[in-house]
Amino acid sequence: MKINGTPYRTIWPTAGNQAVEIIDQTKLPHIFATLRLENMRDTERAIRDMQVRGAPLIGVTAAYGVALAMRGNASDAALAEACSVLLASRPTAVNLRWGVEKMRALLTPLPERERAAAAWKEAARIADEDVAINAAIGKHGSEIIRASYQNKDGQRKNSTVNILTHCNAGWLATVDWGTALAPVYTAFDAGIPLHVWVDETRPRNQGASLTAWELGQHGVPHTVIADNTGGHLMQHGMVDMAIVGTDRVTARGDVCNKIGTYLKALAAHDNGVPFYVALPTPTIDWTLQDGVKDIPIEERTPEEVTHISGWCEDGQVRSVLLTPVNSRAANYSFDVTPARLVTGLITERGVVAADAEGMRALAI
Ligand code: MRU
Repeated sequence: MKINGTPYRTIWPTAGNQAVEIIDQTKLPHIFATLRLENMRDTERAIRDMQVRGAPLIGVTAAYGVALAMRGNASDAALAEACSVLLASRPTAVNLRWGVEKMRALLTPLPERERAAAAWKEAARIADEDVAINAAIGKHGSEIIRASYQNKDGQRKNSTVNILTHCNAGWLATVDWGTALAPVYTAFDAGIPLHVWVDETRPRNQGASLTAWELGQHGVPHTVIADNTGGHLMQHGMVDMAIVGTDRVTARGDVCNKIGTYLKALAAHDNGVPFYVALPTPTIDWTLQDGVKDIPIEERTPEEVTHISGWCEDGQVRSVLLTPVNSRAANYSFDVTPARLVTGLITERGVVAADAEGMRALAI
């Protein structure tokens, strides 16, 4: 996607393939800065500190992390260490495990001297594959948006389609295109009038800072709302559908995503608003069934809840305290939406129901 007219991906190899560069997402929307990651520890830090974030991008960054680790020392021990360090960087997005295990499976049988080149090639292939997958998600999902536009009843037929999204599952969360926002970009580019309600997504505000920024860069009309607004909008017919991303989907279709997603799904269900989840199939964890019981939920530092940061009039980005000094805070980063609340899963292979039959179709 483009930033001020220049096409970018979120991660790319430097000239000469010595390192990778990323967009530092902790600085957006106020400062656009790129960062060079020279070695595996740099990639691990970038994932842990959320300079890169979003399930698919975490998976690709981890794959490059393994590739960078193979540069100096491609022994079995170095491979095992890189995989274990990277796997511990963030617990919830299963794409991390997917990316790391794909690299391990490719590299383990190879002689040491071949590993560095093979690893780099595979990481680049995984990145390209992510782009192709998300473009396909965009194509399938945009048909749902088109159908909503064409099928609106009576007076509202052919009026703007209002889509609610949570967190950032746009191109910044992937290598390009995004998952939940890929259908939005595809439909918008096809000329369908649409507008996106952007949940601010406390505590880290990925909606307010990242989703709003990237939609704005592409010219997509959007409005940032406080996290608790969605239910009210749905009660008043102001949301035609919700589309969110996900960090892990279980074999029975339960969906783990940014904290607050479950409440939006409940409100959508109560108001008859279709609730879609967009995902690349590597986000499915076939080893788990019950998402509420089995998916590890990341708990981050309480400071993300007690503090908020933003652009000050003197041109500096500063963090300020929101709560009484002695109040405790809890910071659960994700929640699980049971499959029964999900209208459909938008994947690169098409749209399926979040039920046994739909999941079976994706397993083949
Ligand atoms: O904590 P984050 O910012 O990595 O969480 C991101 C999300 O929850 C996204 O919705 C999810 O990863 C899907 S990204 C295409």
